Amino acid sequence: MRRAIDTVAVVGSGAMGRGIAEACLRRGLTVILHDASPTALDTACNALAASLQRAAAKGQLTPDDAAQVLEHLVPSEELAGIHAANLVIEAVPERLELKLAVLRNIETSVSAETIIATNTSSIPITRLSLPFADPSRFLGLHFFNPVSKMPLVEVISTMETDDKVQNTIELFVRDQLGKTPLVVTDRPGFVVNALLIPFLLSAARMMDSGYASAEAIDEGMTLGCGHPMGPLKLSDLVGLDVVCEVADALYDGTKDAALIVPNNLRRLLERGHLGQKSGRGFYSYT
Ligand code: CAA
Repeated sequence: MRRAIDTVAVVGSGAMGRGIAEACLRRGLTVILHDASPTALDTACNALAASLQRAAAKGQLTPDDAAQVLEHLVPSEELAGIHAANLVIEAVPERLELKLAVLRNIETSVSAETIIATNTSSIPITRLSLPFADPSRFLGLHFFNPVSKMPLVEVISTMETDDKVQNTIELFVRDQLGKTPLVVTDRPGFVVNALLIPFLLSAARMMDSGYASAEAIDEGMTLGCGHPMGPLKLSDLVGLDVVCEVADALYDGTKDAALIVPNNLRRLLERGHLGQKSGRGFYSYT
């Protein structure tokens, strides 16, 4: 018999892992946050505390509530520390071998009742389910950046996922996180990234061809189409490393030329310009 979800473990403390952890904490859940790098874990916990303080300063919660929320954050340097979770969400970088290894270790670190989800943006969930002894408790749970603001979560089951597990997770997303679950098929990019990534690459390609500046492209889509931010600014927000990793994975799965990463984007990445998080991408954030 599965327990209601009261403790979520998030494995991987990058932008997405941290955002998922904060979203869960702010809805009253206990969160065990694990990262293989103690430095990354420390940075994530400090960023989380700072984000809660900013929310308190904006009057979204009282300073006491912010402190209380933070008390439910349990940083864990060891993967074994996740054993008490009812739900584990894997959010490590978008590399197949890494995800397979981490998921294998997660399954042996938790009880048989624990649901295990991956926040992969592009790798087929079925492929990630292969190392599982019990794939019936595994599914995809795809959040969007910034997690605190984006109301959608894609839910992706495989042929092996137990219907009860999917139902539990749909209820969790809707009733506990206050977001909208969208049940989608296990195909490359699911729904959102299958549409979004070719669009982001197409904007980078237009800029690379010299046809229009970054500012003109972004203004075109914000003022012309009502997008909240233009595609190049959005690429910087998502992270140019993430955009390229997702594009490469989608290209592998589809061989669609629209998913080939243009030169300007590759060059930025080679120079370590990852977008907002590194201070420079298509734009500068100093
Ligand atoms: N991280 C966390 N929070 C952020 C943020 C960031 N990078 N940028 C903005 N925010 C928060 C702000 O703190 C603020 O929070 P409160 O309302 O709680 O105070 C809120 O967003 C609004 O911020 P601003 O007023 O500064 O900015 P805005 O009104 O222009 O909105 C935005 C910012 C929410 C990012 C908006 O521009 C937007 O919706 N952009 C599109 C984002 C999008 O498309 N995301 C999906 C990316 S694809 C993806 O994630 C999938 C994948 O697998 C690659």
